Amino acid sequence: MLILYLKEFLFKGHMNKKEKIYEGKAKIIYATDDPDLMIAYFKDDATAFNNKKKGVIADKGIINNAISSKLFQILTEQKIPNHFIKHLNEREMLIKKLKMLPLEVIVRNIVAGSLAKRMGMSEGDKLKRPVLEFCYKSDALDDPFINEDHILVFDLCKDQELINIKNQALRINDILVSFFDVQGIRLVDFKLEFGLFKGDVYLGDEITPDSCRLWDKKTNEKLDKDRFRRDMGGVEEAYQTVLNRLVKQAS
Ligand code: TMP
Ligand code: ASP
Repeated sequence: MLILYLKEFLFKGHMNKKEKIYEGKAKIIYATDDPDLMIAYFKDDATAFNNKKKGVIADKGIINNAISSKLFQILTEQKIPNHFIKHLNEREMLIKKLKMLPLEVIVRNIVAGSLAKRMGMSEGDKLKRPVLEFCYKSDALDDPFINEDHILVFDLCKDQELINIKNQALRINDILVSFFDVQGIRLVDFKLEFGLFKGDVYLGDEITPDSCRLWDKKTNEKLDKDRFRRDMGGVEEAYQTVLNRLVKQAS
C-alpha cells in the first residue's frame, strides 16, 4: 500500500498515457507506465436504451470529468474506497486499475424510471427507505435485472464482496444525498459499478448526470440524462447547472 501511495505522489502530473485498453459508450480507458494505474478519458458521446439512441452532448466529457472528480473526492474524504486518484486535465482522470465486477448496482430514493414502470407508479414518490437493485452488466443481454441469489449462484462476486458492495452503496447514498441536498438537488437514483483492487472492493466507473437522476429541489426540473433519453432539450445546460452548483458549493 505504501508503495502505491508513493507512486501516486511521484507520478502526479507526469503520468505517461499508453495504449487504449477499452472503449465504452462514454469513456476511453488507457494504460499508463504503471500497471496499477489507468487514465479515464471522458467523451461527449451519449447513448441510451443500451445504444439504441445515440447522440453527442456538447462538452459533456469535460463537465462529467469535473463532476465525477469532485464526487469521488468527497467519497475519499468519507473513507469510501474508490478508484479516483487525480483530475489530470479537462477530459482525463487518473484512476486505480480495478478488476471490474459485471454488476450495475442501482440505489433509489424516489420512484422513477424503470421502477415506476415496473410498479405501475408515477414518478416522484419518496421511498420509505433506499432500495438497492442489481443488473448483470452485459450489453449483449441488455443488462438484465438480477437478484442476490443470481449474483452468488453464478459467481459474479463472492459472499463477502456482495456484503461490502451493499454496505458501501448505502453509505455512498447517505453521503451523496446530503451533499446534493445542500446544493438544492434531489438525488433520485443512481448507478454504481464496483471492482476489486488487490482483493478489496472499490468503487469504480463514474458518478455523473449520465448515471444519476438529479432533480432540482424547488422545481423538480430534471438535471440529468433523462433530458436526452426523453428528448426534452436543454441537456448541456442541465449538466452545466449541476457542475456550477458543485463548484459554487465547494468554494
Ligand atoms: P432505470 O430507472 O432506468 O433503471 O435507471 C436507474 C438509474 O441508473 C438512473 O439514475 C440511471 C442509471 N442507469 C445507468 O447509469 N445506466 C444504465 O444503463 C441504466 C439502465 C440506468
Ligand atoms: N447507459 C445506457 C446506454 O447506453 C442506458 C442509459 O443510460 O439509459 O445505453
